[in-house]
Amino acid sequence: MDIREKIIILDFGSQYTQLIARRTRELGVYSEIYPYSVSPEEIRKISPKGLILSGGPSSVYAHAAPVCHDGIFHLGIPLLGICYGMQLIAKAFGGRVDRAPGREFGDAILTVTGKSELLQDLKPEFHVWMSHGDKVEALPDGFSVVAKTENAGIAAVENNEKKIYGLQFHPEVVHTSQGKEILQNFARRISGCRDAWTMRSFADETIDAVRDRVGQRKVLCAVSGGVDSTVTAALLSRAVGDRLYPIFVDTGLMRHGEVDYLREQFNQKLKLKVHMVDASGRFFARLQGIRDPEKKRKAIGEEFIRVFEDYADRVKDVDFLAQGTLYPDLIESTLVKGPSAVIKSHHNVGGLPEKMHLKLVEPLKMLFKDEVRRVGAELGIDPEFLARHPFPGPGLAVRIIGTVTPERAELLKQADHIFIEGIQKAGLYDEIWQAFAVLLPVKSVGIMGDERTYENACVLRAVTSLDGMTADWAKIPADVLGRISNKIVNEVRGINRVLYDISSKPPGTIEWE
Ligand code: XMP
Repeated sequence: MDIREKIIILDFGSQYTQLIARRTRELGVYSEIYPYSVSPEEIRKISPKGLILSGGPSSVYAHAAPVCHDGIFHLGIPLLGICYGMQLIAKAFGGRVDRAPGREFGDAILTVTGKSELLQDLKPEFHVWMSHGDKVEALPDGFSVVAKTENAGIAAVENNEKKIYGLQFHPEVVHTSQGKEILQNFARRISGCRDAWTMRSFADETIDAVRDRVGQRKVLCAVSGGVDSTVTAALLSRAVGDRLYPIFVDTGLMRHGEVDYLREQFNQKLKLKVHMVDASGRFFARLQGIRDPEKKRKAIGEEFIRVFEDYADRVKDVDFLAQGTLYPDLIESTLVKGPSAVIKSHHNVGGLPEKMHLKLVEPLKMLFKDEVRRVGAELGIDPEFLARHPFPGPGLAVRIIGTVTPERAELLKQADHIFIEGIQKAGLYDEIWQAFAVLLPVKSVGIMGDERTYENACVLRAVTSLDGMTADWAKIPADVLGRISNKIVNEVRGINRVLYDISSKPPGTIEWE
């Protein structure tokens, strides 16, 4: 994609780097993240309208502190340093940075003290979010202080002539009440970005680019029913039409009603001719007797590849494989950590691209998840579909503790369905990151009517989370849980006890296996 106007963010290891990129994109300004070690020549080639130096956990005086190339400070491109980025700027231009007596963390009140380009048209006082150890004690020549806080002292500095700016606090964090306006001032007024980064323009340009690259050749695409692969397939189908060969593998370990729901979404709503393979017999046979979670995952991965290869053999002469890799995957692997890191293995269908000499098409690789959802909406995918909870590749196999059988999968599907319906009815589905049931290999005694029962126990798991990396158990009201539990025990023959999982991640994980 050829986006002329962009902001480049150099990453110094801050937990907020991705947030800076997301915030600028929310303003309609395209941004990309690069490692701090990028050369000034490369930046000159990219020719961004502005540069942002991220925060980072180091002290500028630490032995192995990440320091960008000195030439970065003298490119003549507007430069904004955030926290550690500001300290680097101060040091590079001859100012003094000192260790603060303690790490300052959290809310502070900022007072604008001088005429400022970066803080123009903002309120004279507002809340900001601090997270730093060092602070700038003496300014380099040509810089002036434009804002202060009680604890940090110097909170914002500027050199208007050189268009270099520094903030001790984090404008990208929502707790900084006018953070959006600050980034807007930097990107639009100071750097002069005019283009609008919209998902409509992204979709149009990507479709053209993929069409040019693929030409008359064939593209395979595995769709799982998740948002990323569905949006990938929908984009590809617009670009190459019948030369896209999407395949969905029904492992028998999908949620209740899932295969019919997907058939309708793919074929009727999206007009994607997805090849739906019922491979459940193969998967259950392959999983027979396997209890170990990792062995289950491996067996499923291998079987999936076999089904996929059979299909590729039938299609013949395939050149490309389309994948729904997203920007965070790229950042976490090759981009920021350097070319030696590998893309997470589950994003490549088990090494297939190398084995079958397929070239990758990754149309979403510069997008964040919320942008992918917006592209999906532009392509006509149902909002309800785009808001579905994530579902793991190995499916219910990692939610059936112990051995996986068709009977146990059926029990779990029923209980899981009642749970999901229950939270949907209670209006809780959208506030929960992920909710599902888990079947335990444990039987316990119960009583139903006059009869003693001895049946399975199931666990309900629901978590709130921003990205799945950390999670808290969802505080579903007791009466909602009570209704769901009653319905499961009454309607699912084979389950007589329901538990609710109240572990957070860490130390637990979201899935049980
Ligand atoms: P955990 O259990 O690690 O899960 O806390 C974090 C998120 O990742 C999903 N997950 C998987 N997704 N293949 C996938 O495609 C897998 O093997 C897998 N394991 C976990 C999980 O559902 C949650 O959203």
